[in-house]
Amino acid sequence: MLHNFFSIFVQSIYLSHMSVNTSSKLNETVSWVGKWTFVLAAAGSAVGLGNIWGFPYKAGTEGGGAFVLIYLLCILAVGLPIMMAEIMIGRRARKSPVNAMKAAAIDSGQTSKWQAVGWGGLVSGILILSFYSVIAGICLNYILIAANPTPDISSLEQFNIVTSSPSRLMFWHSVFIALNIMIISAGVISGIERMVRLLMPMLFILMMVMVVNAMINGDFARGLSFLFAPDFSEVDATTFLRAMGQAFFSLSLGMGSIMCYGSYMPQEENIFKTSLTVAGLDTLIAILAGLAIFPIIFAYGLEPGAGPGLVFVSLLSAFVDMPLGNIVGPAFFALLSIAALSSAISLLEPSVAYFEEEKIVSRFSAALTLGLFAWVIGIGSVLSFNDWSDISFIGDLNFLDSIDYLANQFLMPIGGMMVAIFAGWFLKPDLALDEFSGIHLVIFNIWRFFIKYISPVLVAAVFIYQLVS
Ligand code: PFF
Repeated sequence: MLHNFFSIFVQSIYLSHMSVNTSSKLNETVSWVGKWTFVLAAAGSAVGLGNIWGFPYKAGTEGGGAFVLIYLLCILAVGLPIMMAEIMIGRRARKSPVNAMKAAAIDSGQTSKWQAVGWGGLVSGILILSFYSVIAGICLNYILIAANPTPDISSLEQFNIVTSSPSRLMFWHSVFIALNIMIISAGVISGIERMVRLLMPMLFILMMVMVVNAMINGDFARGLSFLFAPDFSEVDATTFLRAMGQAFFSLSLGMGSIMCYGSYMPQEENIFKTSLTVAGLDTLIAILAGLAIFPIIFAYGLEPGAGPGLVFVSLLSAFVDMPLGNIVGPAFFALLSIAALSSAISLLEPSVAYFEEEKIVSRFSAALTLGLFAWVIGIGSVLSFNDWSDISFIGDLNFLDSIDYLANQFLMPIGGMMVAIFAGWFLKPDLALDEFSGIHLVIFNIWRFFIKYISPVLVAAVFIYQLVS
């Protein structure tokens, strides 16, 4: 795995100096230029705010190493088979998720209504982007705050100052959406490929710097045992379900992002090996995030289960006290912002690709319109931190939490389960085998077994659990 990552890294540096002259206008023919670009782009989509904060926090409260072990099982039993199915469907059609699902269905003699799975993905992508951008905007703002912390203000007061100001949140939300529109409208090759080649190695280096910082300034031994000492007494049914949900969200499945990136994957690349590498990198970075955060939390006597304020409130106060904190702090928030940006572009790309492919509007107009759409919905999330904080939308959830709930608890699991059901039960096995060219027959049969019986049942279990709990 490390060897793999090293070669990706070296190639990225090399490729980022290459001039790229492939036009991205003809969407049908677009293909990533660099051999490792699919891996970098898909890992960029997968590694996001969810991993860097969500994984360590859940691992910590759900039994440490026991959770990590169950999480790995979920990645292998559910994440990997669905990821392979998404890439396979995307690459064989070389089209956006809506049309890729339609093509796979028609070629298998099924109804074209399967394209609804693609549509669901487009809708949830825009919905997730709307609130993801507000939180990523806070990360951007914290790069400056951590560089120049205001003396005499506690980090909690600082967090309240940031979130109580709609205009401040709106400003950073707008900056983040604008960055997305710029990257996406530059195209698949000149925008996304160039960005991920630059962002992903930067993210990895910054993560290593943060882990080294945790070794020097943190209580590393305690952080290690908090994350890895398996405590099976904490494990119950919810641990399995949480690990499953985390694996699913973390790999960006059920939304069309990976299917869309798969449609740009060169024909000669091996889908099984690349999926394994992406899932491995996603897990590696999540574990490194835990190693970067918890030693600091312990060394400064902070609360590891502090919830959403963990990185903004707890870590900021640690950075203020730490030697060179005004360098390490901004570096950490830059890392979070980079991870969020490379995830966010994959939320916008599937719908932009559809609009471009159907020749409804140009790539730029599609990116602008859909980005603005997400921006407008995001205003509700900005206000849920302040003016609308008491207004409930779904149940007693505020606007941001309602959108989060709708997209993550409904649209994504249903999308993932439908992809599994389609690939396992409705897609002609020959078509899949054809696209998986080079795959060992034993691995293909294992994949078929999992995508047919194991993955959909496990996703359904999580989905039903969320409905009844
Ligand atoms: N995988 C991202 C994270 O862990 O933060 C979130 C995400 C990005 C989910 C893109 C879905 C997606 F399509």
